[in-house]
Amino acid sequence: MSLTLTRELRFGLHEAEPGAKLVGAANGFAGNPALMGLAPFLTLAVTIAGEVDRDTGMLVNIKTLDRVMRQQAVPFLREAHFRQARPVPAILPALFALLQSPFSPHHLRALRLGLSPYLSYAVLDREPTMVQLSLRFEFSAAHRLHAEVLSEAENWEVFGRCNNANGHGHNYELEVTVAGPADTRTGQMVSIAELQRVVNERIVDVFDHKHLNMDCADFQKLNPTVENIVQVLYRRLKSHVPTPTRLVSLRLWETPKTMAEYGE
Ligand code: NI
Repeated sequence: MSLTLTRELRFGLHEAEPGAKLVGAANGFAGNPALMGLAPFLTLAVTIAGEVDRDTGMLVNIKTLDRVMRQQAVPFLREAHFRQARPVPAILPALFALLQSPFSPHHLRALRLGLSPYLSYAVLDREPTMVQLSLRFEFSAAHRLHAEVLSEAENWEVFGRCNNANGHGHNYELEVTVAGPADTRTGQMVSIAELQRVVNERIVDVFDHKHLNMDCADFQKLNPTVENIVQVLYRRLKSHVPTPTRLVSLRLWETPKTMAEYGE
């Protein structure tokens, strides 16, 4: 059994005002340091594993987490970005290494830097020299949930309105996660443009604005449930992600309330 606690820091990355104090109390949106000008708004989520303190009932005090992150992680990111102009895939494993000791004796399980709601990078303890990139896509498609082995009445019983003979539609959201090492020369891990091109070619262009049952060969004989769709998408993408990255997992939201994940 393992227990983890995840805390998300939200901040603006910009040059600090001269003499500005970086203290760790507030964890509001871009609250500290105060946002100035046009700056990227970022999130940094840290996941800690460990034992709960018997007296406090806490794994780690979130005040401690915020202080460490604001005093060490934010200045580290600012320095790496503005002074050294290092790409994110090169920065994150170094930040992961830097944050090992401040959280001791607890264990740093994962660090995730969100550049936008659609793009994030992460480092996990099980392969701390690798970087994971997660990128979101969307497509709209119609489908009908129907099992050939069931009778009409049974199909209606199992799938309800989703069994409607002429189908119904969803705006699917797909998150693709790939992993790879940062290139020692460029600091990059994958061309995002190339990854987008491949996902568009292998998935979005194939299924967007289609009726999955009627237009798509993959679902001629396969019921297009979200569980089946995510596996089909994984197989379509697996051997096509740009080298040297590998496909880690896909998460597919059929609605904001229903998500299927397939992968490692
Ligand atoms: Ni549906």
